[in-house]
Amino acid sequence: MKALVYTKYGGPEVLQLREVEKPYVKDNEVLIKVHAVSINDWDYGLLNGLPIITRLASGLLKPKKKILGSDIAGRIEAVGKNVKQFQTGDEVFGDLSGKWGGFAEYVCARENALALKPASMSFEEAAAIPQAAMLAVQGLVDKGHIQSGQKLLINGAGGGVGTFGVQIAKLYGVEVTGVDSAGKLDMMRAIGFDHVIDYKKEDFTKNGRCYDLILDAKTNRSVFDYTRALCRNGIYVTVGGDMGRLLQVLFLNPWISMISKKYIRIVVLKPNKDLSYMKQLFGSGKMKPVIDGPYKLEEFSKAFSLFGKGDHKGKVVISM
Ligand SMILES: NC(=O)c1ccc[n+]([C@@H]2O[C@H](COP(=O)([O-])OP(=O)(O)OC[C@H]3O[C@@H](n4cnc5c(N)ncnc54)[C@H](OP(=O)(O)O)[C@@H]3O)[C@@H](O)[C@H]2O)c1
Repeated sequence: MKALVYTKYGGPEVLQLREVEKPYVKDNEVLIKVHAVSINDWDYGLLNGLPIITRLASGLLKPKKKILGSDIAGRIEAVGKNVKQFQTGDEVFGDLSGKWGGFAEYVCARENALALKPASMSFEEAAAIPQAAMLAVQGLVDKGHIQSGQKLLINGAGGGVGTFGVQIAKLYGVEVTGVDSAGKLDMMRAIGFDHVIDYKKEDFTKNGRCYDLILDAKTNRSVFDYTRALCRNGIYVTVGGDMGRLLQVLFLNPWISMISKKYIRIVVLKPNKDLSYMKQLFGSGKMKPVIDGPYKLEEFSKAFSLFGKGDHKGKVVISM
């Protein structure tokens, strides 16, 4: 089968489209013919081997896993003898992070990493959903306790998490401001952001406004900046970003809550937890993934470069 393989850390140039052996399905797994896969920040971090500390898990000098790719959608081609929920021919999608292997024509997965794909959802739409949509739901609902009438700001709003986040937030009757680069602001207005801020022109932490809830996909500022931008009893939720800033958030969070009546929270992704909620929203026309692409597998270099530069809108999807 064809797969995107990497044997050393680096940028998109270290990825190679190669013929490799098709995986063999174990008793508790299904074999999936992959139809679409999306690129996540996690894939990009593992490709680069950055931050360096992550190499303790992914391989000190070279990557242990040779094929990345977690968010896939495809059709089941074979089932292991202990598999109960799925059968051959089922169309499925899910986040295979930890096991990886999605940038390939075939991948094996455990059934708990998968959900049935609705017939009305394309493979590309399904592959866009798992990680980014779960982070958005878990950030806004589980950690942020989003409530009607609030003012929400999403930082890094034009990528995966932000484009799902605004659609979820609008269901709660929330006023949403999105912060990203100039090239994404039209798209952001079109999908429901009430206000948009070009971060190169305006600093949302210094414009005198406050927000009840901030969802951050970038975490590129000091925790004191974020605290300043929160209203009284406001909640700041980060899903990820700069490692140094995240550590600051982690250590200062209890003190900030104690002295300021403002709350700082970090999302630890629960993969696939809210896939059925996203299926419901999609089925009722309340959510539609924003897709950059789809790119053909042969265009992987273009797709990864676009993602690496941050120039993508929504989710970068590759069709197999
Ligand atoms: N918590 C967990 O367990 C977990 C698990 C997986 C992933 N993650 C994290 O979740 C996040 C994924 O977010 P995502 O999929 O939405 O990423 P994304 O698609 O890369 O979107 C991030 C957006 O931020 C914008 N941006 C860059 N610099 C900015 C700045 N200074 N201010 C505001 N916006 C800026 C980028 O656009 P421009 O570059 O054009 O500005 C891009 O549109 C990552 O941080 C990842 O590490 C967390």
